[in-house]
Amino acid sequence: MKTFSASAPGKFVVLGEHAVVFGKPAVALAIDRRFKCTVSEDDAFIVNGEKDDINKHPHVKHIMDIHGLKTINLTSESNLPSGAGLGSSAALCAALSCAVRHMLGKPFDAEEILKEAYAAEYGAQGIGSPMDTSISVHGGGIGLNLPDSDNILWSVKNRGQKWDVCDVHTPEMTFVIGFTGKRALTGPLVEKVRRYRDSNRFAKDIVDEIGSVTLEGVDALREGNKVKLGKFMTDNHKLLSILGVSCPELNSLVDAANEYSYGAKLTGAGGGGSMIALTDEPEKVSRAILLRGGRPITVNTGEPGVRIEE
Ligand code: MEV
Repeated sequence: MKTFSASAPGKFVVLGEHAVVFGKPAVALAIDRRFKCTVSEDDAFIVNGEKDDINKHPHVKHIMDIHGLKTINLTSESNLPSGAGLGSSAALCAALSCAVRHMLGKPFDAEEILKEAYAAEYGAQGIGSPMDTSISVHGGGIGLNLPDSDNILWSVKNRGQKWDVCDVHTPEMTFVIGFTGKRALTGPLVEKVRRYRDSNRFAKDIVDEIGSVTLEGVDALREGNKVKLGKFMTDNHKLLSILGVSCPELNSLVDAANEYSYGAKLTGAGGGGSMIALTDEPEKVSRAILLRGGRPITVNTGEPGVRIEE
């Protein structure tokens, strides 16, 4: 049986999560943790060696529907914790789209893979921006809706929102991720922020302010100014807390990391999941995170995007 494999990286959001859903700017970086899918043709729906119910795998079903497939044999491997705010479902969608296209003899086309992965992620979640799927497909660093970008990778429109996604080159920096161990679903958190913003003028102002902080932070990121970037990350965390997406576990890890960091914030949807810290002292930050019950992961950035694995 001939098999076809592809893998895609996870991510963390440096600045701008949640506000990006409403078309505000955001920046995300790929991390050196990947999701790998291996597929082959089969006359049953098989996941990791067992016959399975396709309705239990909405992301997989969406990708299969796009390609008119009723059955498939899928094996997945990942060193990305799921529900940790690190983009594991987006990485699954990107890797699966790439592997299925390869199996069907379709060309490697990053923009097509992005469209399929975003359609699957959006279809399964019912809400959200193309940020997580874009970073999984492109790798490295990306910005969404940055005003002065001349290197647009793709533009995505959905329900009255538009996102221009560009490449963002990031100088070498060290980040430590702290996973709270508490898994949270992105869809309900994004929906909660949407309801709050749509019904409350103050919440709309907070979302706008996240957009402004992100723009200032992006300049600091491009300049490699860690002091400035750290300050904007911490400001971003405070604004996200006001929006109601932080939690005691995240606040505790952010607080622990702050002593040895330029700045720290929750990353991704929140409600649990992970935080990130920008630091020159990754060992001290990791120890502080461990002491508060979190799981530290020191990340290397500059990770390549989705790719076929031979
Ligand atoms: C989740 O990683 C990022 C959010 O902004 C949701 C989205 O952009 O779809 C919270």
